[in-house]
Amino acid sequence: MRQILVTSALPYANGHIHIGHLVEYLQTDIWVRFQKMQGHRCVYFCADDTHGTAITIRAQAEGRSEEEVIAEMSEAHQRDFAGFGIEFDHYGSTHSDETREICREIWAALRHADMITEEEIDQLFDTEKGVFLADRFVRGTCPKCASKDQPGDNCGHCGETYSPTDLVDPVSVLSGSRPVVRAATHLFVQIEKLHDFLNEWTQSGTLPAESANYLRNFFLNEPLRNWDISRPGPYFGFEIPDSPGNYWYVWFDAPIGYIGATSQWCKRHGENLDDWWKNDETEIHHFIGKDIQYFHTLFWPAMLKTAGYTLPTRVHIHGFLTVDGEKMSKSRGTFVRASKYLEHLHPSYLRYYYATKLSSRVEDIDLNLEEFVTRINSDLVGKVVNLASRTAKFVAGTGLSETYPDDGGLFETFASRGRDIAAAYDKGDYSKAMRAIMELADQANPYVESNAPWELRKDPEKQKELQDVCTVALNLFRTLVIYLAPVLPDLAAKSGALFGETYTNWDQAATPLTGRPIAKFEHMMRRVEPARVEAMIHESREEAAEQNLPVSTGEAPAIWDDAGDALAASPIANEIGIDDFLKIDLRIARILAADEVPEARKLVRLTLGLGGDNTRTVFAGIKSAYTPADLVGKLVVVVANLAPRTMKFGVSEGMIIAAGPGGEDIFLLSPDEGAVPGQRVG
Ligand code: 2FM
Ligand code: ZN
Repeated sequence: MRQILVTSALPYANGHIHIGHLVEYLQTDIWVRFQKMQGHRCVYFCADDTHGTAITIRAQAEGRSEEEVIAEMSEAHQRDFAGFGIEFDHYGSTHSDETREICREIWAALRHADMITEEEIDQLFDTEKGVFLADRFVRGTCPKCASKDQPGDNCGHCGETYSPTDLVDPVSVLSGSRPVVRAATHLFVQIEKLHDFLNEWTQSGTLPAESANYLRNFFLNEPLRNWDISRPGPYFGFEIPDSPGNYWYVWFDAPIGYIGATSQWCKRHGENLDDWWKNDETEIHHFIGKDIQYFHTLFWPAMLKTAGYTLPTRVHIHGFLTVDGEKMSKSRGTFVRASKYLEHLHPSYLRYYYATKLSSRVEDIDLNLEEFVTRINSDLVGKVVNLASRTAKFVAGTGLSETYPDDGGLFETFASRGRDIAAAYDKGDYSKAMRAIMELADQANPYVESNAPWELRKDPEKQKELQDVCTVALNLFRTLVIYLAPVLPDLAAKSGALFGETYTNWDQAATPLTGRPIAKFEHMMRRVEPARVEAMIHESREEAAEQNLPVSTGEAPAIWDDAGDALAASPIANEIGIDDFLKIDLRIARILAADEVPEARKLVRLTLGLGGDNTRTVFAGIKSAYTPADLVGKLVVVVANLAPRTMKFGVSEGMIIAAGPGGEDIFLLSPDEGAVPGQRVG
């Protein structure tokens, strides 16, 4: 029996759970339920991540204390999770005595190992609001990949971590003003001291291959940067015991909250914390999103190692959720809160749909709303539940046959697939497991159709045959339900009631049930009505508009439906005079040549023609959005009087103008027909 401790990332206490979050909590819950069914000792912990500036701002805006805000949000989060059948062994809070205690212990260990250093640093300060700006309250252009509108701590596009002061063109999210730089003393953890250990640990099979490979280069190229771990007060968090007036940065105590939650659970259940966190026999599995992997693959193991805690056995990393191929969007109504979903749809639908999409790779998954409806209706209702709904009623009086009938080897096939399906679950390859289960369902249905129990029923001579056919169909159904139980606990409970049993063990699937009464068939799962999906999206859009999106008062044609996200995310910059604008010499240019820069992941080398012999070389970070060959001949707009910049690959003599947040979403600006190279734009 394995002893396994599992966590999901701790959700911030300043926002509600939405369908994007649920990818991870459902992924984890499925894994935990699966391990429990394997007979392993498996516990699942989570907590609210409560500290930091965001909470203070919310509390101030609502005229309440931080404690009131986090108490209310904790209840809301737990209600949402319970609504989706996500079963924690304990749900705690980072704002707890236990977490504070362990923060102190780990801090003392870091001090003792001489890992802490003090540095005077420049921090961004919002002069309008009179506060130092937390990382997430500054947005700007990523200093590494030049993606626009990125938060102040790490880039959502290229994953780089940096300081807010490194951002190009920073803007305070609080006031929309440009923040100023002020000096403050911060404490840092020198994780470079653990360079070799971290290099080895990240390559030791603990991470998905994509993440490990990416980190490998990271270790080769440069020393690991010191990690800024303190914030000057006022700050909602724990004050650092040996540095009065300074507080641990929220990302210091957040993962420690995993241990804090374990500690609370241990106290309640008479367990010993060290059996779980200082014991090589315990497996520790973290489930996280790719946006926070740095914290979990560098800083977190560094802290655990220094303080003598068990290191994670595996960090399971998933990608982001898109809806109908696009980022979740409030204005499109695809930013759906968990509670809104539950008003309209059954949680089993989403549990299954996500399961069909999840693999062990770090890749984004798409919720295609049309596919969502058809998949549930055809797989779960059409192929699985149908097996029982078409047969159970015929054996309500007689029960199942006394001995298992000859089914031509079907049940044996079903039982023999259990091992492969289990292996897929264990690896996190749920999509593979779901495919295997549906392949079995595809074998069961023709059996029912060809034996047509509804016909047998009419013939008094064929009642034994009827009982046998239904016994086979119901056993095949039961095995499918057990294989699906980690994903669909609700269906497992309802089916269990039909057979008078509960499904707690994987091996139950391998032995057929005979000579048992069958309860009255109760409805197990309804078809998804597309109208409910539409209503959910519609209401999400309406509610988002009421809350905070700029809503146009004009009569814009409905087909335009321009979202307000881009403007809301990147407020308009400070006013300038016409003279300032005229300083920028924008020109039309033609792309004469476009070449890959093999050594640079993002860059394309462009040769721009301004007319006649006037050419320029410009390096543009647009490789993720454009294929060089498609660019040749295109007219673009270039900042022609920008000082030349020497880059690793050559000198860049200007900048071409583009819109969009970065990645695949970069849109070059081109003039209307008639413009010619060299013309001034203004
Ligand atoms: O990114 C987030 O939502 C964080 N609140 C996750 C914290 S995970 C852990 F380290 F606490
Ligand atoms: Zn970036």
